[in-house]
Amino acid sequence: MTDSPTSARSIGIGLVSVGWMGRLHSRAYSNLPIVYPELGIAPRLVHAADTAEAGRDFARDVLGYERASADYRAVLADPEVDVVSICAPNFLHAEIGIAAAQAGKPFWIEKPVGRSAVDTAAVRDAAIAAGVATSIGFNYRQPPAIQLARQLILDGSLGTITNVRGRFFGGFNADPEAPLAWRFIRELGGSGVLGDLMGHLVDLVQFLLGPIGSVTATTGTYITERPALPGSPDAGRKLPVENEDYANMLIRFDDSALASGALGTLDASWIAVGPKAEYALEIFGTEGSLRWNFEHLNDLELATRGAGGRVGYTRLVADDTFPEYARFQPGSGTPMGYDDLKTIEAKKFLLAVLGESSENSNIHDALASAQVLTAAEESAITGEWVALPVIPGHTGNTRVTEVVR
Ligand SMILES: NC(=O)c1ccc[n+]([C@@H]2O[C@H](COP(=O)([O-])OP(=O)(O)OC[C@H]3O[C@@H](n4cnc5c(N)ncnc54)[C@H](O)[C@@H]3O)[C@@H](O)[C@H]2O)c1
Repeated sequence: MTDSPTSARSIGIGLVSVGWMGRLHSRAYSNLPIVYPELGIAPRLVHAADTAEAGRDFARDVLGYERASADYRAVLADPEVDVVSICAPNFLHAEIGIAAAQAGKPFWIEKPVGRSAVDTAAVRDAAIAAGVATSIGFNYRQPPAIQLARQLILDGSLGTITNVRGRFFGGFNADPEAPLAWRFIRELGGSGVLGDLMGHLVDLVQFLLGPIGSVTATTGTYITERPALPGSPDAGRKLPVENEDYANMLIRFDDSALASGALGTLDASWIAVGPKAEYALEIFGTEGSLRWNFEHLNDLELATRGAGGRVGYTRLVADDTFPEYARFQPGSGTPMGYDDLKTIEAKKFLLAVLGESSENSNIHDALASAQVLTAAEESAITGEWVALPVIPGHTGNTRVTEVVR
């Protein structure tokens, strides 16, 4: 990290994989100095890697990276790369995350950090051994409405939390003719909707309410085969889908959780016909309740006991009372978008790298989510409840102050 002539703090960015998320991370870095000028952080897009030539060309010619390579190791070996975004498919997360840690590069890695808790634990161990900062692509923590919800839960506005209901329903895999991409193959994607959407929901619930202490789950696969990818050796044939497209779990919070004693139901589907990105959460307490839905990112619905015993939901629309909202829009109610969540995430990551803040999600949070998902897979087979250890260093809301980072 160097000081530029403008005295901004220049941070060299490396990127592995230039797909949807790689492009989004890049936009987030580029937006950061505009949204947070007072931080004096100037991300410099240095080196991107993608095995696909089109990805490398896009990185250089459109995103503005100074150079691009086919092998991610060239990014990790580049002395001008200070930090790395890892946006590769899930099966590469453990290999690349461990290599980044061993190269001494702090990294911002996309969820679910590997195919199972085993992969995630290996990345966590490497990051701890190297002492590098980490951030996870848990972007649903970042909406100002969610940050406000966290404040309301912490200040006791909802009273004692009794239960939570979450559903992450997407329709992006609802077409049975959509080809068998890496996400449907266990060796490449790991679990299906558990890792893809349920992992976000589990993280969000733990971020707001504290660690989940035990889980039981059911899963189902309803689109059981899909056409092989065009151009692959099996093109023209249908091949089996190897992981679940729907998952349902019952959860009980750990005694250390802010929501100790509370129960919950969480659902996730990536084949829902109708919902597009209905990522919704309802939290109930003895004094009030709140609900939020990503399709209405800027709203938070809140019900608290009113004068005369009247109770009902009020829809709060984002304005400058929502944390960080005014950074993006001076006009109340003007909607923020998905890209903005990643800009907030980029800011928290780079501040953690600089040692100036620990508001980022971290590799311990990734493991805290992954272990719930792996336990859910186990429970779906055995039908049993699975007890979970609390992961030291996670940033979920607890009644106990933690010091591990
Ligand atoms: N945070 C979120 O909300 C969110 C949303 C979508 C995806 N994701 C996660 O982001 C990750 C990437 O997903 P995506 O949708 O961007 O995928 P994508 O399919 O759009 O892009 C994957 C890219 O990886 C490249 N690639 C494949 N093998 C490679 C290798 N060996 N080295 C370097 N690059 C390689 C491909 O060429 C492609 O450009 C996944 O882990 C996914 O779960 C997170």
